[in-house]
Amino acid sequence: MTMNYQGYRAAILHYTHAPASTANSAEPVAHYFADGLLVVDADNGTVVACDDAQTLLAQYPKLPVTCYDNALLTPGLIDTHVHYPQVDVIASYGEQLLDWLNNYTFPTELNFADPAVATDAAGFFLNELLKNGTTTALVFGTVHKGSVDAFFTESEKRNTRMICGKVMMNRHAPEGLCDTVESSVADSQALIDRWHNNGRQLYAITPRFAITSTAEQLAAAGELLAANPGVYMQTHLAENLDEIAFVKELFPERKSYLDVYDYYGLLGERSVFAHCVHLDDEDYRRMSETNSKISFCPTSNLFLGSGLFSLENQPHPVDVSVATDVGGGTSFSMLQTMNEAYKICQLKGSSLSAQKAFYMMTLGNAKALSLDDNIGNFERGKEADFVVFDLGCTDLMKRRQAICKTLDETLFSLMILGDDRAVAETWVAGKKQWHKAEGHC
Ligand code: GUN
Ligand code: ZN
Repeated sequence: MTMNYQGYRAAILHYTHAPASTANSAEPVAHYFADGLLVVDADNGTVVACDDAQTLLAQYPKLPVTCYDNALLTPGLIDTHVHYPQVDVIASYGEQLLDWLNNYTFPTELNFADPAVATDAAGFFLNELLKNGTTTALVFGTVHKGSVDAFFTESEKRNTRMICGKVMMNRHAPEGLCDTVESSVADSQALIDRWHNNGRQLYAITPRFAITSTAEQLAAAGELLAANPGVYMQTHLAENLDEIAFVKELFPERKSYLDVYDYYGLLGERSVFAHCVHLDDEDYRRMSETNSKISFCPTSNLFLGSGLFSLENQPHPVDVSVATDVGGGTSFSMLQTMNEAYKICQLKGSSLSAQKAFYMMTLGNAKALSLDDNIGNFERGKEADFVVFDLGCTDLMKRRQAICKTLDETLFSLMILGDDRAVAETWVAGKKQWHKAEGHC
């Protein structure tokens, strides 16, 4: 019995294992089918099989099949740090982190007190992710509880697997963006109760950073995390030198910026720290020991002049994921994000292979979010989120792809030249949600 199975035939790439060595330079092992077939159960939106087309067509002779020419099909891309309210902050001129927050970001986030503004931005943001092939993200809302209700409501409509949280911030920001210890706890808990594990939605406790939370609020965030197993924690860490100096002034008794979060119980395997450009060996040791995660934000670190993150030569092994950080970041495209990551690695004297980049955007980022049982590759039973890249999307792409002789060359030129123009279709749990020619489905 074939039930409501659907086949998608194209060149297919996915990864089932992390690199064999824990060394960051090790290559992941690709599963690549030049003529592959992905079989999806369209009723429950999961993967049935992924293999050579000939092999699977023999097993499913009556399968309805959609064929894609000159295309590459991969798991949906994952973005581990991004701010949905900052779609209106992207490309703001001339500042580094603290001035950028005060002059552009905070004034914009004030508008999200209005649920209509939040709903409009959330819908636009999710469509923009899908247009870029991103099907899962770890997302900041604003301080307003309604901003997160609006976001999850829009995500639920598209059935995307999203993690989001209400920002906790009670100082060093305009009055309209400050909550209190009590209200931040009550609002976060109410959102957890309503949304965490509701369909594909997941919650992240979200203290903005150590500058905008009092010690009492950070302690309360740590208590919330302890009281809600399975919930995430997201924040910013060691992004900018002036930021780090300010944290030192605010918490003189703590050994380091990371130690502030550690002291209040915010480290752990579901804790994702964005940036981490300026960590020392002891910080790495604690991150490693607690299995905390780093989110590397290349376009943002360059745009805000924050510094060059080292993807290799970590003093202690820590999972590094990769993220756009829009609107400090300048593109929704994970391909463009990897393009900039590659250049940062060049400047740091290290390397970033295309295989590693595609691993990171899919299974690597899924692992960093503890979601590799659900998404990140095409193993049987995984949620069928996938992207179809068009290798002839522009004249230049077509010309460059035509002379690629190896998979590595194909992937590398796709990640360097590609952006939303390269995303032909995006599918979410077995349903098409973006089609380049037709728009949102
Ligand atoms: N640190 C605290 N808030 C923010 C933010 O919104 N963006 C970035 N890039 N860093 C931050
Ligand atoms: Zn950020």
